[in-house]
Amino acid sequence: MRSETISIHGGFDCDPATRAVAPPIYQTVAYEFDSADHGAALFNLEVEGFRYSRIANPTTAILERRVALLEGGASALAVASGQAALAYAFLTLADGGGSIVAPPTLYGTTHTLLAHTLRSNGIEARFAKSARADDVAPLIDETTRAVFCESIGNPAGNIADVAELAALAHARGVPLIVDNTVATPILLKPIAHGADIVVHSLTKFMGGHGAAMGGAIVDAGTFDWRAQAKRYPQFNEPDESYHGLVYVDRFGRDAFLARARSVYQRTTGAVLAPMSAFLLLQGIETLPLRIERHVANGRAVAEWLAADPRIAWVDYAGLPDSPYFALAQKYLGGRAASLLTFGVVGGLEPTKRFYDALKLVKRLVNIGDARSLCCHPASTTHRQMTPEEQVKAGVRPETIRVSVGLEHIDDILEDLDQALAAACRRRAAE
Ligand SMILES: Cc1ncc(COP(=O)(O)O)c(C=O)c1O
Repeated sequence: MRSETISIHGGFDCDPATRAVAPPIYQTVAYEFDSADHGAALFNLEVEGFRYSRIANPTTAILERRVALLEGGASALAVASGQAALAYAFLTLADGGGSIVAPPTLYGTTHTLLAHTLRSNGIEARFAKSARADDVAPLIDETTRAVFCESIGNPAGNIADVAELAALAHARGVPLIVDNTVATPILLKPIAHGADIVVHSLTKFMGGHGAAMGGAIVDAGTFDWRAQAKRYPQFNEPDESYHGLVYVDRFGRDAFLARARSVYQRTTGAVLAPMSAFLLLQGIETLPLRIERHVANGRAVAEWLAADPRIAWVDYAGLPDSPYFALAQKYLGGRAASLLTFGVVGGLEPTKRFYDALKLVKRLVNIGDARSLCCHPASTTHRQMTPEEQVKAGVRPETIRVSVGLEHIDDILEDLDQALAAACRRRAAE
C-alpha cells in the first residue's frame, strides 16, 4: 500500500470484537491470563499477547504498526514523547559506556540529552563539526554504538545526506539512527536510504493537531546485531535482569526493539496513554494531505520573506541559494519542509518587536501543528546550549523559527506583514 492508504488503514482493519472501524481505545491497565502457565509464558516472552499496559497496549499497538508501515520498518515501539523515544533508543544501544556520534545541528533538548543527561550516565556524545561523512568518520571507534542525525534539523532546516551517513556507519559496524520528526515519512523515508532505526516525535506533524504528545522508535530489522557481538554484548549475552534471556537468540534481527521495550519501557515506564495513541492515529489519517498544504504554505512564506527588504536572511532548503537545496532535491523531491528560520533587518530588537506583534501566528514552542507557530530558539528551545553551541546548531541570537500551518496563505502573510510593519514603525520612530 502507498503512504496515503497506510495512513488510514495501516495496522488496523476493524475491531475483531465489535467490527468498529475507528481504532478502539483500550483503556485498560491489565489483561487476564488463561492460566498460571499462560501468565508465566507471557512473562518469559515465549508467547505473544498483552499482560500489562506499561509494556504494550492494543490501541498503542495499532499506532506502532501504522508508524512502522509508513516508515517501511519491521516494527515500532510507541512511547510517551519524542524525547522518551530518543532516550530509549540511545540507552538501549549504548548503556554500559558506549559512545554516540552526531552532528551539532540538533533540536536543543536532544543536544542536552546527549551532551549532559546521557553523559552523566556514562554514555559519551561526540559531536562532529558537521553532518558530512568526512567530519563524522574520525569520531567513530570501537566504543561507538550508533551514528545519529536529524533528517531535517530543527530549527536550521539542514538536510542530512542519509545514504552517505548510513554507508559510513555500516562500513564501521554501527547502525544509523535518524530522527525523522520534521520530514515525516511523507517527505522522506530514511530506511529506504539505509537508516537502521528511525525515531519520531509524534507530537509534531504526525499527530498534527497539537493535542497529544507521543514518540516512536521504528526498527528496520536489518541490522545484524549477532555479527557485532563484541560491540553489542547487551543483545548477545544473557540478560541477568531478564532471567538470562539472550535477545538475539529469542528475537533475531528484532533484538534492539525487544530490549528497548522489555528493559527501558518496562522498567522506566514512559508509556503512551491509549487515548493519546488514538488521537495520534486520528491525526496520521490525514498526514499526506496535510503535508501537501504545509509544503505549499511553507514555500510561499519562504519566498515572500526572501523578497521582503525588511528581512535580513531566510534559511529554507527550497530556496536555490540554500546550501541544502541540492539535498532537498535528492531526498525530498524538492519539497522542503514547512519549518524555516529568518532574521529581521536590524537584529534582535526589531525581531523581538516583530514576534510580539504577531496576532494569528502563535508565539510558542511547538512545530507541526495545523496552526502556524513561531518561536525564538535562542531564548527557549535551545536556551540550555552555550552561544557557540547555538551557532553550530544553526541558532543565531535573532533567529525566528516559523512552523507554517494550514491556514489560508493570505491570512498567514497578512499577519507576518502587519508584524513586520509594527517592528519597523517602532524602529523608524526611534
Ligand atoms: C526533531 C525533534 N525531535 C524530538 C523532539 C522531542 O519531541 P517531544 O516534544 O515529543 O518530546 C522534538 C521536539 O520539538 C523535535 O523537534
